[in-house]
Amino acid sequence: MNVFEAIKARYSVRSYQDRPVEDEKLGRLLEAARLAPSAANRQEWRFVVVRDAAKRRELMEAANGQKFVAEAPVVIVACAVGEDRKLDCGGALWVLDVGIALEHIALQAVEEGLGTCWIGAFSQARVRQALGIPDDVRVVELMPVGYPADRPREKNRLPLDEIVRYEAWTA
Ligand SMILES: Cc1cc2nc3c(=O)[nH]c(=O)nc-3n(C[C@H](O)[C@H](O)[C@H](O)COP(=O)(O)O)c2cc1C
Repeated sequence: MNVFEAIKARYSVRSYQDRPVEDEKLGRLLEAARLAPSAANRQEWRFVVVRDAAKRRELMEAANGQKFVAEAPVVIVACAVGEDRKLDCGGALWVLDVGIALEHIALQAVEEGLGTCWIGAFSQARVRQALGIPDDVRVVELMPVGYPADRPREKNRLPLDEIVRYEAWTA
């Protein structure tokens, strides 16, 4: 599978098989995150890998009861450490850096036959409490990982001519 095939095959998996994720596969997902680029190579990402069923249930409750968060055999909790730095352009550096690393995980998961879903709808405080994450560490996203029990849906995306402009905004 090449990168473009993985990009096309990735979708938000919201139902998971009751089948564990092999350690070697999980290791490659985390290695894919480790190799991601980051601004000034700060690598401020930290990942809490949660397999424990009771903790996954707590994460599910923290994520507005999204059931598949507990259903997935692994939940990767992506965090950012260090100062709340902004890029010169104004963007929050850690949001971008951790986001890139997470998408590396999502694409490597496709290669491994696994599914993932980005989870941004969650209570920061409840996730911190469930996993003992200190106040100065920001929880950026949750990402359930497992073998899909649902099927890919057709991608609903804006056409290229609506999202791309050439040479200038008004061109
Ligand atoms: C930052 C971010 C946060 C998201 N949060 C959630 C979420 O909390 N729950 C959920 O079911 N999907 C969530 N999604 C998945 C999006 O709904 C999904 O990516 C989008 O609808 C496109 O569908 P696809 O991923 O299947 O291509 C999130 C996606 C991103 C990028």
